[in-house]
Amino acid sequence: MNETLELIGNRKSVRNFKDKKIKREDINTIINSTLRAPTAGGQMLYSIIEVEDPILKDKLVVTCDNQPFIAKAPLVLLFLADYQRTYDLFISSGVIEYAGREGITHRTPGPGDFMLASCDALIAAQTSVLAAESLGLGSCYIGDIMENYELHREMFDLPDYAFPITMLCFGYPEGDYSTRSVSPRYPGEYICFKNQYRRLDQPDFSQMVRPVEETFFKSRNFTGNSENIGQHFYTKKFTSDFTLEMNRSVQKALDIWSGI
Ligand SMILES: Cc1cc2nc3c(=O)[nH]c(=O)nc-3n(C[C@H](O)[C@H](O)[C@H](O)COP(=O)(O)O)c2cc1C
Repeated sequence: MNETLELIGNRKSVRNFKDKKIKREDINTIINSTLRAPTAGGQMLYSIIEVEDPILKDKLVVTCDNQPFIAKAPLVLLFLADYQRTYDLFISSGVIEYAGREGITHRTPGPGDFMLASCDALIAAQTSVLAAESLGLGSCYIGDIMENYELHREMFDLPDYAFPITMLCFGYPEGDYSTRSVSPRYPGEYICFKNQYRRLDQPDFSQMVRPVEETFFKSRNFTGNSENIGQHFYTKKFTSDFTLEMNRSVQKALDIWSGI
């Protein structure tokens, strides 16, 4: 084990932050490390908005499925899948005339560009998680930022081709962070394959979920009347109101990126 592997292996999401400011110097270190993340073709198809305004943070608590810890995080970074800057660069570089001259069919960003920009933004986000962790800061992703697209566009003045793909809350962990166990994972054999995809069957599933189910049974009850982890995730995540909203919201953005 080296320090980097230890850091990765011990990371846990943190939702309970000390009431302690993060030094500007440390925030800059996190941002500068994040900017070293690889991006598709080196185009940096992402942007980061540091959400400092407490009014905006309070609104995010509500628009991101009522998660109060967002307002308590001393650092909140919003990651945008951003093709707007690159598309604007194209336009200001005279590509319309250039395309006409060269016989290139001009186009606006599409769904593939959306996915590529999302890859850039998410890789940047995880880079910032690890940089922050190395400075003693905990973090937690907020996937619910993909909901309420129209509201978030208005709140952050987002143009057509900038989509809030994820958000991160950072702060010094309060409480039992160093003693708390890492959360369980499905065993690697059900996640990582060689050469070809392997579709899992019933015996695989009962082995796969065992470590996760055991931890769940110990620590909290399953949602509603669900009897196993599959039913639990199906109820709590897949068919819940917030995922229905997320699907609606992302479709709205995709419509724009698809020129609909
Ligand atoms: C894309 C993504 C979205 C997430 N969204 C939320 C969220 O909205 N709220 C939250 O409390 N945790 C969120 N999490 C944190 C996960 O619940 C957490 O990573 C997972 O349960 C595993 O726990 P660990 O990070 O401690 O290993 C999110 C994580 C990811 C990667």
